[in-house]
Amino acid sequence: MSIILAIESSCDETSVAVCNNGKITSNVIANQTIHQNYGGVIPELASRVHQQNIVPVIHQALADAEVDKKDLDAVAFTQGPGLLGALLVGVSFAKSFAMALDVPLISVNHMQAHILAHFIDEPKPSFPFLCLTVSGGHTQIVLVRDYFDMEIVGETLDDAAGEAFDKTAKILNLPYPGGPLIDKHAKLGNPLAYKFPVPQIKNLDYSFSGFKTAILYFIRDHVKEHPNFITENLDDICASVQHSIVQILLGKLKKAALQYGIKEIAIAGGVSANSGLRAALKQMEEELGWKTYIPQFQYCTDNAAMIAMAAHFKYIKRDFVGQDVAPLSRMPF
Ligand code: KG4
Ligand code: ZN
Repeated sequence: MSIILAIESSCDETSVAVCNNGKITSNVIANQTIHQNYGGVIPELASRVHQQNIVPVIHQALADAEVDKKDLDAVAFTQGPGLLGALLVGVSFAKSFAMALDVPLISVNHMQAHILAHFIDEPKPSFPFLCLTVSGGHTQIVLVRDYFDMEIVGETLDDAAGEAFDKTAKILNLPYPGGPLIDKHAKLGNPLAYKFPVPQIKNLDYSFSGFKTAILYFIRDHVKEHPNFITENLDDICASVQHSIVQILLGKLKKAALQYGIKEIAIAGGVSANSGLRAALKQMEEELGWKTYIPQFQYCTDNAAMIAMAAHFKYIKRDFVGQDVAPLSRMPF
């Protein structure tokens, strides 16, 4: 039996969850709306807001789970990757909290946790499976052999898929984070209205920087001729961009599945909340005989439930860290 409190503070969400013997009993997420004024996450502001949020969010998570801090068996935290200052708030709090309660500390890799979010609910994937992890900072195809035996077999050489969504949104004058808004407009548009170039990258790797520039020039050229081009065609532009990104993502995932002979396929990370990606993956399930795993919406974008889930598996192995642990902006598996 174990009751674990987990803290996530790698970017712009302050989140705390409680996991009671492998079951998530609370998951509180405080979003930082302040960044909307700047069109992207401002690291210094993120740290300050984490500092303001962390104590009330912890209180709420304990109250929702109906546990007292004295009941905790371990405290877990996101060690990286992420914004150093933002991570530092969670790491420092976790260290002091664990020391005061005299319980072990568990460090969690944020990207592994996105994947382990698949073990929160049924159906759970069987090992080995492939996971396309797509977020604001990462785009990876991961071969998952066991809970902590993961290998990145393909990844972006430059921008992440989430960045492609967010930067496109910025070009279209939509507020940050633009991914969910592109998704919303895409539902009303024609995905084949405009065609964008598919990056020609070897192996299982991705590239989104040229794609992003192509969109920038496409919009700039059209606006030159028709100043109202964006407002008059917003739904079609969003649908076409989303369709292209989804095709790029799934093209390499299909290649990876063939290469490794694996049909258990999962998606994870903020972009896995995208309705176009979710629908296209479901379609591939039928076409290719895959068994696909798509997390519930609340476990796609950043949350502490996934950190708590990863911590649960580490607790079983007694995989703890000392008080000298420090946050890592980059953190390999
Ligand atoms: O995993 P996440 O919450 O944070 C990071 O670890 O980066 O991912 C955030 C990213 C952002 O780029 C956001 O625009 C994107 O996920 N995102 C979406 C959707 N919801 C979130 N992108 C496309 N469609 C969505 N529905
Ligand atoms: Zn994330």
